[in-house]
Amino acid sequence: MKALVLAGGHGTRLRPITHTSAKQLVPIGNKPVLFYGLDAIRAAGIQDVGIIVGDTADEVRRAVGDGSRFGLRVTYIPQEAPLGLAHAVLIAREFLGDDDFVMYLGDNFIVDGVRGIVEDFRRSRPDAHILLTRVDDPTRFGVAELDETGRLVGVAEKPERPRSDLAIVGVYLFTPAIHEAVRTIKPGDRGELEITTAIGRLLERGADVRSHVITGYWKDTGRVEDMLECNRLVLETLEPYNHGVLDDATEIAGRVVIEEGARVTGSRLVGPLVVGAGATVRDTYVGPFTSIGPGCTLTDTELEFSIVMERSSVIGVRRIRDSLIGKDVEIKPAISTPQAHRFVLGDHSRVRVA
Ligand code: TTP
Repeated sequence: MKALVLAGGHGTRLRPITHTSAKQLVPIGNKPVLFYGLDAIRAAGIQDVGIIVGDTADEVRRAVGDGSRFGLRVTYIPQEAPLGLAHAVLIAREFLGDDDFVMYLGDNFIVDGVRGIVEDFRRSRPDAHILLTRVDDPTRFGVAELDETGRLVGVAEKPERPRSDLAIVGVYLFTPAIHEAVRTIKPGDRGELEITTAIGRLLERGADVRSHVITGYWKDTGRVEDMLECNRLVLETLEPYNHGVLDDATEIAGRVVIEEGARVTGSRLVGPLVVGAGATVRDTYVGPFTSIGPGCTLTDTELEFSIVMERSSVIGVRRIRDSLIGKDVEIKPAISTPQAHRFVLGDHSRVRVA
């Protein structure tokens, strides 16, 4: 069995982060979201992984390499443009050969991993198997329709009038039967080759497509609030440790991880939180559910329920919360005009001023 991991896409919902970076590499608990998926695939006993890459191919290649550090053999499959999930299957045909495979969306986060699901599929081997979860707003997802016996009878992509509240989770199990289906479908309203259309095609042809509702936590991290929510969840499971340096004036409560070479002085840290390698935290309050990336500098600041990516600095700002701050960002007071805000913001930045 192989895995096909999708790490291309537009990432419009995570702009401006995705103007320059891959959304699959946004860190959750200081580890890229994509790495949780790769670890889960390896834990399911799969070694051959094809990764679909787009505009951010170089960054993904740099981060994942040949896959050996995950115990995987990685083949990169460039996608000319994000033409849809079924398009990704289409261009991966040669890599996939006649093997069964798990398709994993690189920005999806499943707490329980995929091992049990993959084992079940290997044993029962229907033509395809999809996972479902109940959501509040099915119109944002691929949605499944089940009959009264619980059998999957239809699927629809982001339907205006959903027939259930069962969203399709971003992990799919396929036999080679999917290849003919993706070859014969046409792009939908969004101009993309939708995987839901291909699954619908399998159903029309009487193929054995099964589904089950997962009970564990699943999140599509496509939006800022989803990223923050996943970050919260991961931080809650942290085993605290201190590999950095803390002074006596620093107070710590809750689960706190201080990575290698981080220095914390005169500060109050209320976990769960992580301070990345080589970061400096001075005279600062860091509150719960916060990930501070490697090499960041926080001085005279209050920050909570946020992700700050590597090498960013925040100086003299009270208080920041619910924020996703990219790499090499600088936030500090406008000294010459204290009553005025001053911004240099990239396209699609979103700022909420207190
Ligand atoms: P989506 O989140 O559905 O699409 P997107 O990345 O374009 O995001 P947005 O809606 O915010 O613009 O994609 C799910 C995953 O699949 C994600 O990791 C990106 C990846 N993907 C591809 O690799 N190729 C594609 O053609 C598409 C549509 C998505």
